[in-house]
Amino acid sequence: MGDKPIVVLDSPEALYVRAAEEIAHLAGDAICTHGEFTFCLAGGTTPAQTYDLLATRFHYSIDWSEVHFFWADERCVPPDDLGSNFAMANRTMLAKLELRPEQIHRIRGEEQPEAGAHLYEDELRKFFRLAPGAVPSFNLVLLGLGENAHIASLFPHHPALYEKERLAVAVEVDAPQRHRISLTAPVLNNAANVLFMVSGAAKASAVKQVLEGARDLDQFPAQLIQPAKGQVLWLLDREAASLLAPLP
Ligand code: 6PG
Repeated sequence: MGDKPIVVLDSPEALYVRAAEEIAHLAGDAICTHGEFTFCLAGGTTPAQTYDLLATRFHYSIDWSEVHFFWADERCVPPDDLGSNFAMANRTMLAKLELRPEQIHRIRGEEQPEAGAHLYEDELRKFFRLAPGAVPSFNLVLLGLGENAHIASLFPHHPALYEKERLAVAVEVDAPQRHRISLTAPVLNNAANVLFMVSGAAKASAVKQVLEGARDLDQFPAQLIQPAKGQVLWLLDREAASLLAPLP
């Protein structure tokens, strides 16, 4: 398993709480050091309960007025659609917090995919005051893992895996909500912290391949995550870790 820090939690509930603790800790650090916390949210279903915990049990552990929310990917649907990653985060967390509109930097899934990707890149360049060719560095990127080892909306065998210039791209993938917008690997890998949350037996094979399998980015996109300077932490529940070699 090499150098990848992995923590296995006894249950999905323990995973959700541990993730909220890690996020609150990183938020405190970033706000203390930089005066703000740039939090790139994962979509899908796994982070939902953690988002709810952050807005409830951990509500007073974070100075929410200093947090800026971004997304690793979005499905090309309106922001109130059930399939929207924004809608999920809004329902479980954002709507429960007193936030200023300028703290929410969502991907405009309602736009034409290519236009939505460009709008998001513009938003990133504006917020991070990027020089031409520069890449934003989030304090934290939260990622889930697909059963096919995809991350954000970077799917196996897709040309977007190899994108080196763009910050965000429109992709068409073989999944519910075919049209999506995703951050690219250079952006994900420029984060100060990348936190994976993975739950359930259905993910065990992908976890095994990504963490212990031969390096094959085309097949296992999550292997792309190798931050130049940042930290990576894998939070797994017992079922998701069930095929891994026994941890030391
Ligand atoms: C998305 C996500 C995607 C997700 C994985 C895991 O928009 O679907 O960003 O990368 O994290 O598909 O999804 P679950 O958490 O629902 O299993």
